[in-house]
Amino acid sequence: MKPIYFPEPFRIKSVEPLKMLTREEREEKIAKADYNVFYLASKDVYIDLLTDSGTGAMSSDQWAGVMLGDESYAGADCYFKVQEVAKKIFGMPYIQLVHQGRAAEKVLLPILLNGKKYAISNMHFDTTRAHVELAGARAIDCVVPEALDTTAQYDFKGNMDCKRLEKYINELGAENIGVIIMTITNNSAGGQPVSVKNIRETRAIARKYGIKFMIDAARYAENSYFVKQREPEFKNSSIADIIKASFEDADCFTMSSKKDAIVNMGGLIGCRDKELFELVKQRTISFEGFITYGGMSGRDIEALARGLEEGVDENYLRYRIGQMQYLAARLDEGGIPYQSPVGGHAVFIDAKKLLPHIPYYEFPAQALAIELYREAGIRACDIGSYMLGNDPDTGKQLEAEFEFTRLAIPRRVYTQSHLDVIADALINIKERASSIKGYKIVEEPPILRHFTAKLKPIK
Ligand code: F0G
Repeated sequence: MKPIYFPEPFRIKSVEPLKMLTREEREEKIAKADYNVFYLASKDVYIDLLTDSGTGAMSSDQWAGVMLGDESYAGADCYFKVQEVAKKIFGMPYIQLVHQGRAAEKVLLPILLNGKKYAISNMHFDTTRAHVELAGARAIDCVVPEALDTTAQYDFKGNMDCKRLEKYINELGAENIGVIIMTITNNSAGGQPVSVKNIRETRAIARKYGIKFMIDAARYAENSYFVKQREPEFKNSSIADIIKASFEDADCFTMSSKKDAIVNMGGLIGCRDKELFELVKQRTISFEGFITYGGMSGRDIEALARGLEEGVDENYLRYRIGQMQYLAARLDEGGIPYQSPVGGHAVFIDAKKLLPHIPYYEFPAQALAIELYREAGIRACDIGSYMLGNDPDTGKQLEAEFEFTRLAIPRRVYTQSHLDVIADALINIKERASSIKGYKIVEEPPILRHFTAKLKPIK
């Protein structure tokens, strides 16, 4: 019997037509885009899996809220509403709106780092790493070793390696570490979950050494659903209680609302301590705007207040994680390797295994992303050596730990038929894998090159 993974807890009221190009047309478009998927026009893409960030479909209730948004500069109605909802969900006394996740990082991280040398995380997302570095510190990743083996069956591959964390603290000196950051789910390791037990252990270590403990909460709801499924202590808990347990005792959090809060733009900062919050407010006013709107339109704040509630609904989360599990099961049938067990917001295809004949310096994960576009108009992205770039000292290409082609699934946007197209495309590509060639870069900027570099196929 075929298991039913994810009955959609919604029906479709408004649709957005998609153009379907021929293979020849796609061939022409990707060549014109210099084999960089970021240069493709979205209208030339059939299934867009570039990111799950800000690409979700809002509900009819959220759209109704857009019309009711209060655009007052100070003290708007939607501000009070979002405060109430966020305080209830996160159990944090102080909440600040900002315009997206990296804005939260820009405001908060310099306060926490303030002259300190290091931040340690289970894994920093790129923008978090960038803001640690902009604050004059270094970002150290400390994920459990199981995360590095894409075939290792482990429930919480996103976890912090607590033994190594304590070793780092002793070696580097607790006084030099400004913050310990727990990213839930762990995006860079493949959207992998973190257990509440691991969050508690990490924050106990932070307490022991007097270091601030911060949560990067972009996908906190998806993480909580995994906890309910996999951590025996929480199997009868509500998602709301798991979120409370995860945030209990954290000093602060940053959040991109563009993921689990299902809005197209927005971010949050949460603080437990009034003193820290005062500093956050001051920086928010200079970078983002007055504290009651923090860089957001009133209509978007109203949609956020409603999206926060929808994003923690258990029926929605079962469907959401179920989409990944359905796609992963189809890939298993086809023998396609990926970071397994599958994570919460994306399937990370192991391009190193699928295209073993392409060396890291010819970018196997980028080659696979291009092939997906050729095959079915699917836009995915490289999370591997192509994204990692060159050593800033020697200028030599670095070799990434993983060569992932990330298929990030937008929330409530694509149907099971779309997922089948993705699986079938990968299975077709696998059949001709040995004939697929690598790429070379013909033009690149010095930093964050993957967004704008130009490439050519290797003959
Ligand atoms: N933290 C995590 C874990 C993220 O995944 C992201 C964004 C951010 C912070 C920054 O948030 O985009 O609102 O400024 N991740 C997106 C992605 C871009 O595609 O994974 P932002």
